[in-house]
Amino acid sequence: MDFLQLMQQRYTTKYYDPDKKVPEETMQKILECIRLTPSAVNMQPWHFFLLSGNSKQKLVSVIPDFNVQRYQSCSHVLLIAAKNPLNDEDIRAVCSNEDECGRFTNPEKENAANAFKGKKHFADLHWRTDGYGSWCGKQCYIALGSALYAAAAYGVDSTPVEGFNAALTDELLDLRSLNLQSQVLVLFGYRSAQDSNTLDKRPKARFALKDILTVL
Ligand SMILES: Cc1cc2nc3c(=O)[nH]c(=O)nc-3n(C[C@H](O)[C@H](O)[C@H](O)COP(=O)(O)O)c2cc1C
Repeated sequence: MDFLQLMQQRYTTKYYDPDKKVPEETMQKILECIRLTPSAVNMQPWHFFLLSGNSKQKLVSVIPDFNVQRYQSCSHVLLIAAKNPLNDEDIRAVCSNEDECGRFTNPEKENAANAFKGKKHFADLHWRTDGYGSWCGKQCYIALGSALYAAAAYGVDSTPVEGFNAALTDELLDLRSLNLQSQVLVLFGYRSAQDSNTLDKRPKARFALKDILTVL
């Protein structure tokens, strides 16, 4: 499908069919798209947790009333967590991975040690202004975009969810001990025939381009 059509047709699903589960191979393709998400200096400062079936119950207490019904009836839940704090070891791991993936084509000039200095420099710039948490959190929202559009491309419905108790999630999954902080959830599944938010019932509402774009 043309990407514009995909953007026009995906929407936030509010009611899922609890009997329809996303096949594992489709879920794997969505996860692979998420893995390929770009991030500043390729830092990939995130970790993902996938819940389905009984494991979804682990987080049911973090979901407020207005989101519970969709949480319970969806097929899979993805929790996107940001690294916070981001440590030198995290930066070194990115550099080693880039080396293993063959990114350093001129080893005399480019190597993991040099790459570390560059990445650390940029990470520190953001740390001074916003703190790592904010910078890493922003990268996580790029992964959220990948998740929503990858799902749509594979015919899977989704719901981005900021309406959850992130602090309680961190506590329940002991994320602080892993230097992680919850950012956002994504629900995946297939819409119920009664979904109230389908585009025929509630057309997409966005400002016109002329109202949000200034060509300089
Ligand atoms: C970061 C983010 C958080 C959101 N959190 C929730 C949520 O907690 N519950 C919900 O039902 N919808 C949530 N939404 C859905 C938005 O309300 C929806 O994307 C917006 O109204 C545009 O509609 P559309 O996605 O159908 O195009 C969230 C969307 C985003 C991008």
